[in-house]
Amino acid sequence: MQCVVITGASSGIGLATAKTFQQAGWRIINISRGACPLDGIINITADLAHPTTITTISTSLLDNLEDCTTLSLIHNAARLDHDTVQGVDPQALRQTYEINLIAPAALNRVLLPAMSTGSSILYVGSTLGEKAVPGSFSYVTSKHASIGMMRATCQDLAGSGIHTACINPGFTDTEMLRDHIPANVMSEIAQMSAFGRLIDPAEIAATLLFAAQNPVLNGSVLNANLGQIER
Ligand SMILES: NC(=O)c1ccc[n+]([C@@H]2O[C@H](COP(=O)([O-])OP(=O)(O)OC[C@H]3O[C@@H](n4cnc5c(N)ncnc54)[C@H](OP(=O)(O)O)[C@@H]3O)[C@@H](O)[C@H]2O)c1
Repeated sequence: MQCVVITGASSGIGLATAKTFQQAGWRIINISRGACPLDGIINITADLAHPTTITTISTSLLDNLEDCTTLSLIHNAARLDHDTVQGVDPQALRQTYEINLIAPAALNRVLLPAMSTGSSILYVGSTLGEKAVPGSFSYVTSKHASIGMMRATCQDLAGSGIHTACINPGFTDTEMLRDHIPANVMSEIAQMSAFGRLIDPAEIAATLLFAAQNPVLNGSVLNANLGQIER
């Protein structure tokens, strides 16, 4: 059986990804604070902001993977704050890095022994992994590091038969975007893609499934943003 461990499948891109992989016949193990609302998902309730979380859930995670032939590990959960280089709160910055970076690294360490040839580690990055906008300091810096983590993963796993990639969504219609962008500017945001619309989370999910199935993408950064218009 093919299995996927995904963080943050309770909503947005993670939820759409769980649905897409489930329809393709994969077993889904979700890690988030709230449950994934789909039937037939294994939910491991966890707050990735806590430094001991991955150690605490590791036995239950591995128990659910015993009969998996291949495993795709998708690092999707993230925190996005409004903050700046002048005002960033170090404690908030630590929490963002804990969720966006330390938890993925800790999960890799726990799950790599359960990954055989054909498995994959996929990072959900962001367009803001390769450029910056004002007012998202901790997020921008963490998403740049996600790309670095993917590249280091690729180098360290050479010869293992496990592949990796970083998928960078553009503006995608999820709670995270709606929480971050005022409703009255959402239509302007949609016009920033060359297609004049927001991305449907299912489109990112389909990209992640493709990446899980195609080791030729090993080490790639995939910009899944409909073509962003630079002004
Ligand atoms: N939407 C966009 O426009 C966009 C653009 C570029 C990149 N992305 C990336 O896409 C990924 C998914 O974002 P989304 O837009 O789908 O956002 P979302 O709908 O807000 O989903 C975020 C997910 O992360 C989980 N999460 C957040 N904090 C957590 C914590 N402390 N512990 C465990 N889980 C936590 C949430 O689960 P719980 O709240 O249940 O814990 C939720 O399932 C993120 O990596 C984001 O950076 C999104």
